[in-house]
Amino acid sequence: MTAKPLGIGILGLGTVGSAVGRAFADRQKRLDAAAGRTVRLLGAAVRDPKKARDAGGVPQTTDPFAILDDPAIGLVIEVIGGHQPAFDLQLAAFERGKHVVTANKEVVAKEWDTLHEAARLAHRELRFEAAVGGAVPVIRGLRELQAVRPQVLKGLLNGTTTYICSQLEQGVSFDDALAEAQQKGYAEADPTNDVDGFDAAYKLSILVSLLEGRHFRPEQVRRTSLRSIGPAEAAAAASRGMRLRYLAVADFGEKATKARVGPEEVPADSLEGRAGGPTNVISLESDMAATLVWSGPGAGGDATASAILADVIAIARGMR
Ligand code: NAP
Ligand code: HSE
Repeated sequence: MTAKPLGIGILGLGTVGSAVGRAFADRQKRLDAAAGRTVRLLGAAVRDPKKARDAGGVPQTTDPFAILDDPAIGLVIEVIGGHQPAFDLQLAAFERGKHVVTANKEVVAKEWDTLHEAARLAHRELRFEAAVGGAVPVIRGLRELQAVRPQVLKGLLNGTTTYICSQLEQGVSFDDALAEAQQKGYAEADPTNDVDGFDAAYKLSILVSLLEGRHFRPEQVRRTSLRSIGPAEAAAAASRGMRLRYLAVADFGEKATKARVGPEEVPADSLEGRAGGPTNVISLESDMAATLVWSGPGAGGDATASAILADVIAIARGMR
């Protein structure tokens, strides 16, 4: 392989970052072949250096700038999550001429314009396939639909709430179902983001922004919490042949786009009704392309790492 190697650093080594670390350790040859050059994971920044991790043995530091200032690193994967310090660290990566790949839907949804502008000025790429849909390549999918007029985008964008809803149907309590989702690595560090709909609103904001080609802010999404739902409500819906799901909907009207996230009843035999666990479902109705549907694992370390690595490979292939 004669192309210049690409050095990679990760900020954050939790559920997602550790899965990326393991993937580099167990499929280096596959990644190099797909990237058309050697791609090497050189280091990771963490908060607690004493924490035991299964992250493929990547060297660790508690100083994110040790990663950002490393001249051998040309691409930074940000998987710390949340707004700050993630936002400043992404900007610092662009200022230092590095590409950025992130799974952080909050910072992308809130700082859409600033991050895209920073990437443009730096002549570097910002990629965030993992921020919506986990392993499901829905960002790529929507980018290929520039010619259509979107009508309705609908689906399940948050794995934790789908998991909770499907467990409520089995009679599991809300708190136990949430604890299971946390234990399985689906939930955000602060699960309020999942159950109160912030996470789904960030993701819907990103999808609408892609389809409209301009920033659709997360505050424009009407949010209803899942907290009022329990096994009794799930059983009542079932008695009507329905299921409760935490639905995200964007209606692209003639004058304005209306977007909402919250618990709604869906037919039990619909794609959304049949989805359990961390499954995401996204369907888009448009004028030219009828209805397109994407579905698959929307949360979890390995599923999310798959999308991150696809972004890494795409950037590496495009480098001269
Ligand atoms: P997580 O398990 O909470 O991991 C966060 C990591 O960031 C931890 O390793 C933590 O270090 C590190 N960290 C926090 N503050 C830091 C700082 N100031 N400097 C350096 N490192 C710092 O979170 P996660 O589930 O992996 O999620 C990461 C991102 O991916 C989030 O934006 C999330 O929304 C997104 N995402 C997650 C999933 C999923 O299924 N989990 C799916 C799609 C997208 P310590 O370990 O030392 O505390
Ligand atoms: N907490 C998120 C979810 C992770 O449950 O969908 C994936 O973005």
